[in-house]
Amino acid sequence: MGLAGKPWGDVNAIYQIYPRSFMDANSDGVGDLRGVIDKLDYLKGHGRSLGVDALWISPFYPSPMADFGYDVSDYCDVHPMFGTLDDFKELLEGAHARDLKVIVDFVPNHTSIEHPWFQEALRDPNSDKRDYYVWHEPVDGREPNNWVSIFGGSIWEYDQRSGQYYMHSFLKEQPDLNWENPRLRAEMKRILTFWLDLGVDGFRVDAVWHMAKDKKLRDEPKNEHYIGPPGTYGEYKRIYSKYAPELHDYLRELTDIVESYPNKIMVFETSPDEDLGPVVDQYAALYDVNPRIGLPFNFGGMFLPWGARPMGDFVRDFQAMLRPTDRPAYCFSNHDQPRIVSRFGRRQSRVVAMLLLTLPGLPTVYYGDEVGMENVPVSPHAMQDPASANNPMGGRDPERSPMQWTSGRYAGFSTHKPWLPVPISARVYNVALEQRRPSSIFALYKKLLALRRDEPVFRDGMFTELHNDERRNVLVYERRGADKAYRVALNFSGKYRRVKLGRGAKVVCFTYPNRRPFVRNGTVLLGPYEGVVARV
Ligand code: GLC
Repeated sequence: MGLAGKPWGDVNAIYQIYPRSFMDANSDGVGDLRGVIDKLDYLKGHGRSLGVDALWISPFYPSPMADFGYDVSDYCDVHPMFGTLDDFKELLEGAHARDLKVIVDFVPNHTSIEHPWFQEALRDPNSDKRDYYVWHEPVDGREPNNWVSIFGGSIWEYDQRSGQYYMHSFLKEQPDLNWENPRLRAEMKRILTFWLDLGVDGFRVDAVWHMAKDKKLRDEPKNEHYIGPPGTYGEYKRIYSKYAPELHDYLRELTDIVESYPNKIMVFETSPDEDLGPVVDQYAALYDVNPRIGLPFNFGGMFLPWGARPMGDFVRDFQAMLRPTDRPAYCFSNHDQPRIVSRFGRRQSRVVAMLLLTLPGLPTVYYGDEVGMENVPVSPHAMQDPASANNPMGGRDPERSPMQWTSGRYAGFSTHKPWLPVPISARVYNVALEQRRPSSIFALYKKLLALRRDEPVFRDGMFTELHNDERRNVLVYERRGADKAYRVALNFSGKYRRVKLGRGAKVVCFTYPNRRPFVRNGTVLLGPYEGVVARV
């Protein structure tokens, strides 16, 4: 196996940990790195483990937490709330001892206002740090253009002291970095080197689309279809404030550094936009950055409606678009989007699990989905996410609730009242119970992850859609390698469906892993929202 562990190509899936919410070891109501260390056995290396091969940990760096860590004030340390750098090293060692890879979040588009670079830039407009950020004189006494920040309001914030505006694509507490500045780029590369030297296996790269913008700062055109209050992100088509062509050169500089270490990866958070032209081209450009180690997430899965047709079309079209070296990175949830159970329903969430983990490439599982966690409503006075202020839907707190470990108090996440509430349903949907229950969704995830680890066909075999029927609401596809093939049949309907798998088909996984579906003459009878993987 060697020091670098298994090749990335053999990794079954990435498991995303939102560290505030995974496990609280020091009883302050907020998760920490020690908590992750304590739960490594849950993830891999033990008979009862879930069995994932890689972890992505959302930011745990020093930060004033305006955006819960996505506003970094020191890229090369650990926030005391999460622990210390030594804790991180211990975590990494513990993970690697289990051949579990660890990737960390890299936030290149912006820092926190409390980052020393920004502090110096504010204090001394002549300092070399000033140009690490994007500044502009007022135009006609006001903001330089009409660009809107993702969290609402102008992208520009006025600095009284210098009489200039700075740009922030997200909160005003998250000033955008100026990637045109080669010294800034060098600093960012040093940060990657710092983590690579510690031994991390790669990076998830945050919000890459904003790293390069129109140099002329042209006004965005209005979005004619927009209905709603002014000053929100949807009011304009964003054709100038993101995805300028230089983006790919900046990212390539980063992948060059990362690739100089063996067996690493960079997964880009991206958000292709039809207003910018064919989405195919936007994906291709990101794959072209570095086809060996770089890949963009495909976020399409997070916005799909329920149904064999929309899901089947989505996967088929995306697969058809990829070139042979492009590795897809599917996901159906994360810390910014609603939970799968809440979007589609509890029974339906098993179908999504089976889909996600039988698709090609490198999928990501969001912590807690494997025990069926749901969105947890947060009352207005208890809301934490700064994005809630401008979001009538109430922001992203509901999908960030504490991991459900036990039926006990605070779901076993902490002995202290957690920073976000735990739902009543945690008494039923939790690790301790589900590890013992062979019918649980946890048991299904475990089974699918094991299949995906042991059978390369699921990671890199051919994907062929065999049946995608809107009326019957059934999706069937095949995954084929040189000497093996599997068929996956998913019943998206609430009715019984007969599905042909082929003579001799042998069921290897059912959505209720302790049961077997009825199969006769190569035809399986699937109940409502059931799915099956069969060797053919
Ligand atoms: C990404 C993160 C999100 C964060 C934003 C700004 O989209 O996933 O949580 O708020 O970037 O860093």
